[in-house]
Amino acid sequence: MDLLQGPERASGSAEAAALEVRRVSKAFVGRAGQATLALRDVDLSVERGTFVSLIGPSGCGKSTLLRIFGGLEQPSSGEMRSATEQQRGGLPSVAFVFQDYALFPWLSVVDNVAFGLRMAGVGKRERRDRARTWLARMGLAGFERSYPEQLSGGMRQRLSLARAFVTDPDVLLMDEPMAALDAQTRLLLQEDLLKLWEETRKTVVLVTHSLDEALLLGDRVVVMTARPGRIKLDLPVPLPRPRTTSSATGVAFSRMKADLWAALRDEVERSLEHS
Ligand SMILES: Nc1ncnc2c1ncn2[C@@H]1O[C@H](COP(=O)(O)OP(=O)(O)OP(=O)(O)O)[C@@H](O)[C@H]1O
Ligand SMILES: [Mg+2]
Repeated sequence: MDLLQGPERASGSAEAAALEVRRVSKAFVGRAGQATLALRDVDLSVERGTFVSLIGPSGCGKSTLLRIFGGLEQPSSGEMRSATEQQRGGLPSVAFVFQDYALFPWLSVVDNVAFGLRMAGVGKRERRDRARTWLARMGLAGFERSYPEQLSGGMRQRLSLARAFVTDPDVLLMDEPMAALDAQTRLLLQEDLLKLWEETRKTVVLVTHSLDEALLLGDRVVVMTARPGRIKLDLPVPLPRPRTTSSATGVAFSRMKADLWAALRDEVERSLEHS
């Protein structure tokens, strides 16, 4: 089944899209000169203020697509429109949150959060104030002078979220931010993220391997095919908001999860055959 709902949706609401790719392909050339086609003809549009979850088998190009959205990678062909093109007073309009936190080990917790503001030329007092506010909001008050290695995995990821939110970006790109966490810590962080999103209504693209997480957080779940990645299914998630982790139950939820797995399963098998 090749349900290209994304592009159809995009054509009707291109004005409101914060991120958009059209017929985007990406090839990487390896050391021996061999080409790997990571993405092929991807059409995807993310409307402003929506939360899109992106799932697909390992190696299908999810991180590549996220990096293209964030301006860290250029497509080999196709068109891309992103909020990265609109800088606001030196502040980045896009922030990343990664699985491995990507924190600076030599900077204290508060300086890690304030770093982006410093790069943007925000004054010392203001950046400290803003960093402290976000640390308190993420339950990290009292740890300002600690260093990342002194924090637990869950705390580090909350620190990464504080660092991403402190610059007030338009778009948050999250690449498996909770994959390294234990199941209970992950549930708590999902609740934090739901609450943050309700309050800020940022445009978010979240890459995850968890179907539950994708459905719980997303307004839509986009399923990619095995490499070269294309959009296979674009599933709206009409669960009411505000949501909590207990929203991940019930008949409608189970049905959507079954639909996702039906679309994903073949792709995971295909990607395993080729690996
Ligand atoms: N810089 C690069 N140079 C060469 N090949 C790359 C590069 N980045 C990604 N690739 C290749 O592109 C393909 C897609 O990689 P990508 O990291 O986007 O997959 P993914 O869907 O994020 O996988 P995972 O779920 O395992 O994180 C892979 O085959 C990968 O080896
Ligand atoms: Mg990846």
